Amino acid sequence: MQVNCTRTVIRHDKVGEIIIRKPSPYDKKLVEEFLRRLSQESIYHRFFKLIKDYGEIVDKMLGEDTKVCLLMEKDSKVIGCAEVYKTIWPEVGEPAVAILDDYQGKGLGKLLVFLLAICSYKVGIRRFRAYIFKENLPAIRIASKLSSKIIEDYGDSLLIEMEVERSLDDIMDYIRLHFEILPGERA
Ligand SMILES: CC(C)(COP(=O)(O)OP(=O)(O)OC[C@H]1O[C@@H](n2cnc3c(N)ncnc32)[C@H](O)[C@@H]1OP(=O)(O)O)[C@@H](O)C(=O)NCCC(=O)NCCS
Repeated sequence: MQVNCTRTVIRHDKVGEIIIRKPSPYDKKLVEEFLRRLSQESIYHRFFKLIKDYGEIVDKMLGEDTKVCLLMEKDSKVIGCAEVYKTIWPEVGEPAVAILDDYQGKGLGKLLVFLLAICSYKVGIRRFRAYIFKENLPAIRIASKLSSKIIEDYGDSLLIEMEVERSLDDIMDYIRLHFEILPGERA
């Protein structure tokens, strides 16, 4: 199985057809609408603060600090977004992800992070490092699927390292078993 990191259509048993694609500079408005639809709790878990200037955040998400960015779309609306930011180490990326509240708990966050890992690997990323609130159990569960270990404990949050390269086979098996990549959309 190969994943096309530019555009892939996947069938999800509960949500139906979803598109996962690379954004273009014309997607700023779509991404801002997505952020504005997230609950304050989701915003806080994602950004560790509340957003004052949405335009600035969207520019950062779609800008040059980002090594990989994937939008998840359903019916022409963005329902999820995941990015990997550059760090001082070329092989290490800092991942971030958010799924609209109404779509959470259906496996979409895990799917999007797994696709992010595959697409990050293709551009040279071998490990992820992420700050995650301890109370954010879904995010910690997802990290645990990527051979994670705790690097630092800050009390209310953790710095977690994930082995992208070592997890790829398991990720591929999971996607193959649980989702259908629709014909014509393979790399
Ligand atoms: C974190 C987030 C991306 C997870 O996406 P999701 O679609 O809700 O999660 P999934 O349905 O893919 O579930 C991922 C795992 O968490 C578990 N899980 C889901 N909701 C849970 C909950 N409320 N409590 C405990 N575990 C939960 C799932 O069972 C799954 O684990 P499993 O694979 O072992 O079964 C999503 O909740 C979100 O956008 N939160 C706000 C932003 C954020 O916190 N981003 C992460 C920090 S950058």
